[in-house]
Amino acid sequence: MTFRAGWNFLMTPGPTNIPDRVLRAMAQPALEYAGPDFMELSIGVHEDLKKIFQTKAEVFIYAANGHGAWEAALSNTLSPGDLVLVPETGQFSNSWSLMAESLGLKSQYMPGDWRSGVDPSAVERSLLDDKDHKIKAVLMVHTDTATSVTSNVPAVRKAIDSANHPALFMVDTIASLVTTEFRMDDWGVDVTIAACQKGLMMAPGLSFTAANDKAREIGKSTIIPRNYWNWQTRRGAIHYSWYCGTGPINSILGLREALDMIFEETLEGAYARHQRLADAVRAAVGVWGSDGPFELNSLKEEERANGVTTILIDDSINVDDLQVLCRDKFNVSLGHGLGKLNGKSFRIGHMGHANEPMVLGALGSIEVAFNRLGYQHGKGGVPAAIESLSKA
Ligand SMILES: Cc1ncc(COP(=O)(O)O)c(C=O)c1O
Repeated sequence: MTFRAGWNFLMTPGPTNIPDRVLRAMAQPALEYAGPDFMELSIGVHEDLKKIFQTKAEVFIYAANGHGAWEAALSNTLSPGDLVLVPETGQFSNSWSLMAESLGLKSQYMPGDWRSGVDPSAVERSLLDDKDHKIKAVLMVHTDTATSVTSNVPAVRKAIDSANHPALFMVDTIASLVTTEFRMDDWGVDVTIAACQKGLMMAPGLSFTAANDKAREIGKSTIIPRNYWNWQTRRGAIHYSWYCGTGPINSILGLREALDMIFEETLEGAYARHQRLADAVRAAVGVWGSDGPFELNSLKEEERANGVTTILIDDSINVDDLQVLCRDKFNVSLGHGLGKLNGKSFRIGHMGHANEPMVLGALGSIEVAFNRLGYQHGKGGVPAAIESLSKA
């Protein structure tokens, strides 16, 4: 067995480092599932999640990963045979689109290049072409974790409005929430999808949908079979039904603590911290790429994600070797490339419970790994990151 000294720096783009405060909050005896303590906790968490989504819409909590929330969003609003429009952003738009098809929906998939965000004008054209309003929903991934590209949500809303199209607008914020601005109501999002294990700093296992009146009203007459996910039977007078059974009590205790931490920092503070860390990582990658095969995947500066950086490489770099060395020697966990970027990229997560020393430590460890593995790279990524953080 490999002994790894020191703290683990979980620099993967989910799950992310879990704060001790959150771990301690979870390490408590369970509460009575129908007792007043859990009820009060649960009401508070549902209300406070609305502040994170910046919405007045109803929030639903699932004891599930992000895939569960994807399925909840689709199965609550659509009927078999309905068409959804899915702009390709990367691996996660692919997977969501495939899930839609597996539920009996049809997906109109709009090809993308995995390096740029959703093109609002292309969305508008597709919706204008859809004279009979066969498209029932637009499914958009805010930050695609495979590509580290963040797309412009208000611009896509504007495109839907310009086409005067009634499709529901659903946005996956699994990798963007808390790392970058997201305003569900102001931006006209009908359904928000999220999960707890990234910006929300929680142990994996909870996911969320927020659904506005329009989405919930449409859902009353749609017929994809659903039970556990069903918005219509959750949030009733009986608290037990809010979770379709026994609530994930200890996860909710952890989430309460994580939300408290976010409110202590403020959402704006969290967005700014993520931006600072992202800028530092990008500064280092710029230097590595000045004399080596390293390039930011996200082409446009304004679309570069705050929570994750995908770095393109060539055949001279072996991602497995890099990951293993960083993991075993320095206790730093990195993300590998996903989908068609598998073997062609690696990813540094800088979301959730992350700060400057963690990012500098991770970048330094990667540079040491480059040296030991003999990978050609521009020297001085860490000083460039220090410079970036010094200016911030
Ligand atoms: C943007 C995005 N959407 C969806 C998912 C799927 O979430 P989960 O793995 O929790 O099911 C992920 C996971 O990384 C993601 O990053």
